[in-house]
Amino acid sequence: MAKKVVFLGMGGTIAGKAQNAGDNVGYTAGQVGVQQLLQSVPGLDKAVGDDLPVSEQVCQIDSKDLEHCDWFTLTARVLHHLQMPDVRAVVITHGTDTLEETAYWLSRALPGKMLNQKPVVLTCAMRPASSLAPDGPTNMADAATVACFQGARGLLVVCAGKIFEAAHVQKVHPYRVDAFDAGEAGPLGVVEEGSVRLLFNWPNADALRPGLDCAQLQARGLPRVEVLLNHAGASGAIVRSLLNPVEGDAPVRGIVVAGTGNGTIHKDLEAALQLAQRQGVRVVRVSRCAYGCVVGSAAADGAFAHYGLSAVKARIALMLDLVEAT
Ligand code: SIN
Repeated sequence: MAKKVVFLGMGGTIAGKAQNAGDNVGYTAGQVGVQQLLQSVPGLDKAVGDDLPVSEQVCQIDSKDLEHCDWFTLTARVLHHLQMPDVRAVVITHGTDTLEETAYWLSRALPGKMLNQKPVVLTCAMRPASSLAPDGPTNMADAATVACFQGARGLLVVCAGKIFEAAHVQKVHPYRVDAFDAGEAGPLGVVEEGSVRLLFNWPNADALRPGLDCAQLQARGLPRVEVLLNHAGASGAIVRSLLNPVEGDAPVRGIVVAGTGNGTIHKDLEAALQLAQRQGVRVVRVSRCAYGCVVGSAAADGAFAHYGLSAVKARIALMLDLVEAT
């Protein structure tokens, strides 16, 4: 039976426009509607087969400016469509800059059982829609191919012919069209000439995970969690200022520190973080290295919790842990 493939537009470079078609960097993100983008996708008919592509504009934003409320809005729309029996999959067009955060957020926010039945595929572009050679149309075609692939499931990202899993995907280049990587995990698969070649199995979400109550979370607000980076010459001053917010700023509830190497932290910064922890602020240590995560005694010494995620994803995980704890 023919089903719908829903394309949700969030903005980004994929929907960007420059004054001049030769300009791939001086453009404004989030200008072209997702329905118009859909019309420029080569081979969309082949990608969706008998299914019907439909679209909805959720946001029209440069993803560097995304707010938590945009995650809530997107989650509600994805959930709405996934619950429809005649929807096969959801594809989201999104800016590249914070795509990995939205992907990870959705992988935590949506019910595991649902993700194991229908795929949600984020895609993007590094060249604006107005470019002489935009990469968005092909990325959208590849995302549609993945969305309609028999057995596809999970929270996926498709860019430059590669398929990634939300937990591992990371933007690694500010200009190249193949701007994403998944570190040691590598891509889940590739899309070649409109065909999917899987390298690993589709992700399996925890079927018992119910998903987040976004309406309630939005009403309460997510706790403030900041990300700090250890570096030569680091000090505790930034932590001390976080502990003394100016009037009107939310109190900090958590800090993710991206340590050097195996999560090591400058002694002055570490002392300030220990002070923060004694004052009730949850501190999580990750590594600022591109590959791997904190291992061995640094992970087990009990001083700070340790998450095997990138710093920006650890921030989301810590916000959700803090919510759960209250
Ligand atoms: C954005 O993230 O919205 C702009 C940059 C991009 O999509 O590449």
